[in-house]
Amino acid sequence: MIKKILPPLIYREQFAQIFFTIREVFGILWNINPRLTILVLALSSFFGFLSLPIFYLEKLILDKLVGSIGTSNWQAAIYPLALLIGARALAETIRNVIGSIQSYAKQVASRAFNIRVEIMLGEKLATLDAQTINDPTFQDRYNKIERQSGNRGWSLIMSLTDIPGSILGLISSAGILLFLSPLVVVLAALVTFPVILVDRDYVKKGYELDSKQSLRYRIYGWLASYLQETKRYCELRILSLQGHLVNRMKNISNEFLEEDKNLRAKREKSRIWTYFPYLFYYGGTNIYFAFLVITTKISVGSYQMFLRALLSVGQNFSSLFNSFSEIYENYVYVEDIHWFMNLKPQMNVNENGEKVEKVVNGIEFKDVWFKYAEDKDWILKGINLNLTLGERIAVVGENGAGKSTLIKLLTRFYDPSEGAVELDGKDVRLLNYEYYHKRFAVLFQDFETYPFSVIDTIGFGDVERMKDIEGIKVAAKKADIDEFVESLPLKYENPLNQQFDKGVQPSGGQWQRFGIARMLFREKADILVLDEPTSNVDPEAEEKIFNELLKKSKSKILIFVSQRFSTVRRADKILVVDKGKVIEQGTHEELMKLDGKYTRLFKLQAKGYV
Ligand SMILES: Nc1ncnc2c1ncn2[C@@H]1O[C@H](COP(=O)(O)OP(=O)(O)O)[C@@H](O)[C@H]1O
Ligand SMILES: [Mg+2]
Repeated sequence: MIKKILPPLIYREQFAQIFFTIREVFGILWNINPRLTILVLALSSFFGFLSLPIFYLEKLILDKLVGSIGTSNWQAAIYPLALLIGARALAETIRNVIGSIQSYAKQVASRAFNIRVEIMLGEKLATLDAQTINDPTFQDRYNKIERQSGNRGWSLIMSLTDIPGSILGLISSAGILLFLSPLVVVLAALVTFPVILVDRDYVKKGYELDSKQSLRYRIYGWLASYLQETKRYCELRILSLQGHLVNRMKNISNEFLEEDKNLRAKREKSRIWTYFPYLFYYGGTNIYFAFLVITTKISVGSYQMFLRALLSVGQNFSSLFNSFSEIYENYVYVEDIHWFMNLKPQMNVNENGEKVEKVVNGIEFKDVWFKYAEDKDWILKGINLNLTLGERIAVVGENGAGKSTLIKLLTRFYDPSEGAVELDGKDVRLLNYEYYHKRFAVLFQDFETYPFSVIDTIGFGDVERMKDIEGIKVAAKKADIDEFVESLPLKYENPLNQQFDKGVQPSGGQWQRFGIARMLFREKADILVLDEPTSNVDPEAEEKIFNELLKKSKSKILIFVSQRFSTVRRADKILVVDKGKVIEQGTHEELMKLDGKYTRLFKLQAKGYV
């Protein structure tokens, strides 16, 4: 029984969650701008407090008015009245002005909050490692945060900044009533209790509904993005998928509307009985106030003031409660952010490790074994390799053989499960991660196609040298994309996406050349890595690009994964990877003599060309 009456006190967990959420959001806001934070909170408090003088002025006006009814000297009565009315109007104006400044400051704060969270997420993600990021449970939770970070800030900041105003409003109004009788205040708190009980249950139910809907919500988001993104247009159009997808969206949204409606209807039904205590209380106190007027215990003005205070207590109480509910609804989101921001990379990134500025001899794989997770199969099985400065190495092998995995260990996106990768005799795990990455220029199979200018697209290869336009032009020329760039209306300033004015959409082959140019612009890198990025380029162009790369990489290590044997055969060393092992290695001629896997793969492709 007691448990039923006092649930808000017993649900300590919920209180703790609300407290946690407020603390986290406040912390972020404070970090963005302490002055803005103080401003919004102070404005909110002042706004809440201003009801006190307004109520009091109204009381004075009414009393003066009643006292002057039928007076013979109206001039004597009207002056003080006019003064009071003026003061009342002034107070109201101040309140309005504060209200609008406050709502502007809140908007600024909530935008800043959203932006800050987005930047925070991006910055934090950059500190994590591939192992952490590719974990499916991580992905699930992270995607949820990412999806929501656009719209949660608004409700969080609004509710947070409303709290001081509600509390001050509540204290001022309750303070007025306390003059009259503490019992009135105690009763006011008691009659709002049933409302809280019902609402608290429904906040919880709404929250459960949210989680129940979350997967469908995600599907809805995917459907919407398929329909809305222009790059998907052609395929959807050919398949006539739009109508089908729209129907799926409609079905899901109808389910949502129905479920929300049901919950709301139930809530309103359960709420009905909670209005009665309030009705009796409000009616009762009202009659009591009237009684006090009649028996001349209080003036008519005071009657009005107490009544206003009474209403204001109820209003502030429920707005306070709404703020807390809203904050509670955002708890999981805030908790997810907290989790994410406190993640530690599983891989040791060795900020204090040796900062290697260049490669002297090369890289060695020493009996490297690797699996993606404890419970998965071995992907690399005892790899021994030497990649020496000045060498051009080709990697061939069937799909799924482990070529890309090998590259990911070389570039240290993963560490070996057993064995070691060494740079000039030093285990790469002991080196500073960032500096190790500076040694590489890599073009992955799914390399990026930045929509910004040509300068950005190529310059991103070495952000410290982005101002070196001549260098960018040289790289473009080497990658054989300079003529295309010169033909663009804005040349090197031209954006590479049609969504921009004068923007263009490069073809697959052109994108690859931009990718190669970006790589060539990264001149400080000692190790050039290409993981099958050239498959879209026509053979003649590939020949040209490859020549350039061979020339460029004379003093470097060039390692490339390719299925094109016309380029593979020109490497100094060819590695044949099969089921996680390097089964053959040597020059083209040596491998052809072996008459093994390489020869078979080579002949297979040669046949395809005739
Ligand atoms: N992130 C990953 N998690 C688990 N398994 C993976 C992951 N990436 C690749 N694999 C698996 O490792 C094997 C080798 O893949 P990969 O190195 O990409 O082959 P290749 O580049 O030679 O085609 C494949 O069986 C693939 O399914
Ligand atoms: Mg691959």
